[in-house]
Amino acid sequence: MKEPVVIHKGLDNVYVMESKICFIDGEASKLFYRGYSIEDLAQHSTFEETAYLLIYGTLPNKRQLEDFKKRISSQRSLEPGLLQLIRSFPIASDPMDVLRTAVSALALYDQQPTTDKLEERVDKAVRILGRMPTIIAAFDRFRNRREPIPPQPDLNHAANFLHMLAGKTPDPYDAHVMDVALILHAEHEMNASTFSCTVTASTLADMYSIITSGIGTLRGPLHGGANEAALKTVMEVGDPSKAEDYVTNALAEKKRIMGFGHRVYKTWDPRYVILKKLGAQLASNKGETVLFETAVAIEQSALRHLAGSPIFPNVDSYSGVVFHTLEIPTDLFTPIFAMSRIAGWTAHAIEYLEANRLIRPKALYVGQTSLPYIPIDARA
Ligand code: CMC
Repeated sequence: MKEPVVIHKGLDNVYVMESKICFIDGEASKLFYRGYSIEDLAQHSTFEETAYLLIYGTLPNKRQLEDFKKRISSQRSLEPGLLQLIRSFPIASDPMDVLRTAVSALALYDQQPTTDKLEERVDKAVRILGRMPTIIAAFDRFRNRREPIPPQPDLNHAANFLHMLAGKTPDPYDAHVMDVALILHAEHEMNASTFSCTVTASTLADMYSIITSGIGTLRGPLHGGANEAALKTVMEVGDPSKAEDYVTNALAEKKRIMGFGHRVYKTWDPRYVILKKLGAQLASNKGETVLFETAVAIEQSALRHLAGSPIFPNVDSYSGVVFHTLEIPTDLFTPIFAMSRIAGWTAHAIEYLEANRLIRPKALYVGQTSLPYIPIDARA
């Protein structure tokens, strides 16, 4: 007798490959990129170094890091045609649509977008990685009827992005927070957008198609949008004294507390711990603590109500508050996530291609067969 087919809806707990890129221990609050703890990377590394680590598998030496930084910063300027394209977009466009379209269009400005050599694929990814902050910032400037700020070669990825957005050199602590936020979002194992990139890579498609797939998948509210939702909640609550009522009512109405819970972490998300500490310092530096204190009050109240359950704060409970305090418009949060996650997308695509097998699962057919074809005039 034939074994019954098991349907793995959502691919929950299905292992689809081996990987040496990222390990999450959701019971022990641990996250490692290529074997290095997220705490060490957040404390000692930079986004550029972390991207190198993810893509090449080892920490760079000084010369390798300098070369990689130069490679990224040499890729920041947009082709006039691409800039013109972004300028032509409706100003009400969602920045994720802008990013997805502009990254896809980048292929048109590459004389040879397709290659089967892995190192050349990394070159294409670095070309996109370097330009993503410029695309996001240029659109934000255009929609505010301002001209884009050219990239600054002497600033790192994070600081240059803040500079291109605001038109002024960022405060060093702000730039540090942005850099750490990019490190924290750079990779997270086989999440939906990374899987999407891997599926596209498995067809031997070009890097532009791979990254565009990732951006499209990240765009959905079940993946990239939770930090916006968490910030919205904190802003609506507005004051620490109102947090308890909010949480009590939300849970009584079976609503979810945004920034809480995770498919993999059943305890503290280690990224949350890092971001909360930075967020506290940032709020205090700016003398704007109400939002942060409101987020803390919501968190404490939710922890009291959810005590005994495996629902803990995740990275999104503070990322929105941090980005808002850095004066970043809310609809840029998910594009920033993409700007960082491209490092992980690239690493996974390259790793998969080293021993490629076309990803082609099956769907169990439960429809009819052998129906008689009815000419259109004879149909009811
Ligand atoms: N607030 C209140 N209850 C919750 C929450 C929450 N945030 N999250 C899960 N639950 C409850 C849920 O209602 C369910 O209860 P019951 O069994 O009584 O119906 C139970 O916990 C299990 O829920 P689930 O959806 O099966 O659990 P999951 O582990 O698949 O959910 C999640 C993970 C992230 C979808 C969910 O926790 C959630 O919707 N959280 C809010 C949105 C959010 O913060 N998302 C960001 C995730 S981190 C992003 C990243 O890592 O990149």
